[in-house]
Amino acid sequence: VLCWFYVFPGYRLPADKEIAEEVLRHGEAWRKNQTGIDLYRKLLTECCDPRRMFAVTKENSPLGKVLWYDGEFYYSHTVNNETYQLFVQDNPLTLPLKKCAVVGNGGILRHSKCGKDIDQADFIMRCNLPPLSKEYVEDVGTITHLVTANPSIIEKRFQNLLWSRKDFVDSMKVYGSSYIYMPAFSMKPGTDPSLRAYYALADSSSNLTMLFANPEFLHMVGKFWKARNVHARRLSTGLFLVSLALGLCEEVTVYGFWPFSVGLDEQPVSHHYYDNILPYKWVHAMPEEFVQLWHLHKSGTLRMRVGRCP
Ligand code: CDP
Repeated sequence: VLCWFYVFPGYRLPADKEIAEEVLRHGEAWRKNQTGIDLYRKLLTECCDPRRMFAVTKENSPLGKVLWYDGEFYYSHTVNNETYQLFVQDNPLTLPLKKCAVVGNGGILRHSKCGKDIDQADFIMRCNLPPLSKEYVEDVGTITHLVTANPSIIEKRFQNLLWSRKDFVDSMKVYGSSYIYMPAFSMKPGTDPSLRAYYALADSSSNLTMLFANPEFLHMVGKFWKARNVHARRLSTGLFLVSLALGLCEEVTVYGFWPFSVGLDEQPVSHHYYDNILPYKWVHAMPEEFVQLWHLHKSGTLRMRVGRCP
């Protein structure tokens, strides 16, 4: 099979159509490759130490530790009495995680019927507090073990939690007793909303556990992918989670990653499974990321679900 990775190694990103053709040509065939899995776990452990570093913990961020914001220059937060007490003691996950599902928010999930498949995983990660209402259950499942929340969602959807916190607390119930993973120390304006989200959950005896993403980990993961042809200002949330999963899980399957407007059947695909609101600016390089993920799929290091689930 003539493959554009080898035809154009590093020269140009193939067009959307070429990518779809390549995915179709490859078909459903997939075989797990333990050597590839072990290699990526080793590479990610060496660069970014996800086991110890993915969250801010009392262990890796003691009082007085300077946390440098990874999403902008010059800002840092020095861990103080107020923030230290909000950190978990140590990595709370029981490792290694076995079968992990990383669920992106791509419109490709709509009508995929992947819900059952996703819910069968041992550890399910989702991005940006996605809707899990009845109409989507068949396609995206119901169970969540870790969900990311960007502080900008707190600002936009929940009025920055300056007024009622009930809406926020209620809408978090759909994530059960999962971890909520917030990049509280990535952008300066995101810190206060993240801390408010922490208090809103703590004060309501919520079942969720707040984990703050460690900016040093995010920075190192960004560097890891930069060295592998992903030239974005910032990695997408989905790629951060896939990197985390490759570091912590024995097997990784990813769903909902398809940053193209046309599907394999040449029909239009919305950007998200729940709406078609495009990112404000293309700060991310999702197609470049897709190419890397596809590479990992082809080598058997992770499994990517693009079409319908069986
Ligand atoms: O906030 P961000 O734009 O990163 O993410 P999102 O739109 O909430 O979607 C979650 C993740 O799914 C993204 O970070 C991407 O990795 C992935 N995604 C994709 O691959 N294709 C799409 N059409 C939409 C999202």
